Amino acid sequence: MATKLSVNVNKIATLRNARGGNLPNLVQVAIDCELFGADGITVHPRPDERHITTQDTFDLAKVVKTEYNIEGYPDERFLDLIDKIRPAQATLVPDPPNVLTSDAGWDTVKHADWLKDLIKTIQSMGVRTSIFIETDRALIEGAASIGTDRIEFYTGTYAANFHADKAKAIAPYKAAAEIALKNGLALNAGHDLNLDNLNYFISEIPAIDEVSIGHALVADALYLGLENTVRMYKQALIIQ
Ligand code: PXP
Repeated sequence: MATKLSVNVNKIATLRNARGGNLPNLVQVAIDCELFGADGITVHPRPDERHITTQDTFDLAKVVKTEYNIEGYPDERFLDLIDKIRPAQATLVPDPPNVLTSDAGWDTVKHADWLKDLIKTIQSMGVRTSIFIETDRALIEGAASIGTDRIEFYTGTYAANFHADKAKAIAPYKAAAEIALKNGLALNAGHDLNLDNLNYFISEIPAIDEVSIGHALVADALYLGLENTVRMYKQALIIQ
């Protein structure tokens, strides 16, 4: 199975919110991303609603026909949203409310009991769970022991090191993927993936089920157009 592309549309909402109206129209952009080949739509509704609002999450739920993935810090508000919407996947991220972007994974050892309960609760809603994580062996084994369906590798470190030495940059992810797969975890990846570094990542770790990509994809769309851009990211997911 080819790796799926979930388009993170947070930045579309950021642009819309800059003027307070409905331009660009987030719902239409999500519909069009699917039309252009996206396999999923991802949102991260933060408590301050600086990009995706709670209302957006409901509006998108009505139109997304592929996989709807909602990310967030698992507080009461997030769990309530997941319960009401029942998306295909909930991705748990450990960031505090006002952080600029999710740039670190869970400590699955320290927070094992809490995460285990949360995962059970979300799975009982019929929603697949994924948790954002880095590549240390103990964290991966910790993720397996708390019962999550998937992990999402935080790929910011890979992206930062890619141009200096891509083999070195991918090495910890390959090792972590092997441990995860042995422990029955399925794999997602995201953060700072782009048209330069995506194909190598996927070629080296073909078992990745889904990547979620927002910032670079939206920036590329300014030059290439959204339709071309989505198609190019899909193309980058094909292993030669
Ligand atoms: N995965 C998670 C958990 C994220 O928080 C983000 C950013 O919202 C992404 C993936 C996408 O990262 P980027 O916008 O750099 O493509």
